[in-house]
Amino acid sequence: MTEQSPVTIQTAKPVPTLPDAQMVTGVKHYTDRLFSFRVTRPASLRFRSGEFVMIGLMGDPDPKTGKQKPLLRAYSIASPSWDEELEFYSIKVQDGPLTSRLQHIQPGDEVILRPKPVGTLVHDALLPGKRIWFFATGTGFAPFASLLREPQTYEDYDEIIITHTCREVGELTYGRDLIEALKSDELLNEVIGDGFWEKIKYYPTTTREKSPKMGRITDLMRSGEAFADLGVPPLNADTDRVMICGNLAFNLELKDMLEEYGLVEGANSKPQHYVVEKAFLD
Ligand code: A2P
Repeated sequence: MTEQSPVTIQTAKPVPTLPDAQMVTGVKHYTDRLFSFRVTRPASLRFRSGEFVMIGLMGDPDPKTGKQKPLLRAYSIASPSWDEELEFYSIKVQDGPLTSRLQHIQPGDEVILRPKPVGTLVHDALLPGKRIWFFATGTGFAPFASLLREPQTYEDYDEIIITHTCREVGELTYGRDLIEALKSDELLNEVIGDGFWEKIKYYPTTTREKSPKMGRITDLMRSGEAFADLGVPPLNADTDRVMICGNLAFNLELKDMLEEYGLVEGANSKPQHYVVEKAFLD
């Protein structure tokens, strides 16, 4: 019998080289302005669907000291709290300090992820209600991608309305594909209940390219068209709860509208009728 040398089993996990490093596991590009990516999830990271974390890369070395500092931005976690990995949905800004580089990440690369989730778009910040509205523009869809895959959303509400206003049709793809995929997701149908997705009413609109429904959601609500299309009455503090995530002008305009409907802004410490968060912009 010949003596065999012991075999060392190499683990597949690369040694992290960045502080709080996580490995990229997948990247998908949607338009020249939008992409999504998935990364490994730190074993200790617990978060509530709808929260965000700081994500980034190492910045360029300081010309004087040669020292590098992390370049971080807030990113809503687009995956639900039970997922093994973390998903993010990002804009690409060609001269943006972070996304000009982040858009080039590939599976196997590392990103920095500070494991301290926070945010206001959480179920705990809302009083019980009948119907929840998720209002998004652009990458503001991300927290709702998480909440639409969160069982509590369907436990707490009879109806889930998700509106997404984008400039162009291609910018709706991430959200549309995600909602379509829910229908055939065996795990979600098993965990939440068969046909859970029938509670969702999806209302995509575009403002700068022709699509079946054009216009800003705010204008479509003011004219009553959105309510008629969706077959629901205008917002009411007794029945409707709202989460908003979009660009600053959108958030402010919609917030004013909600106040006119009699809805009050809530927080983790004081649940009310609606909550707002700014979408990530580089
Ligand atoms: P518009 O094309 O009329 O500006 P952006 O890509 O600039 O963040 O915008 C995303 C979407 O949000 C666009 O369709 C844009 O419409 C819309 N939008 C911008 N400001 C508002 C607002 N105050 N109210 C409603 N929609 C808005």
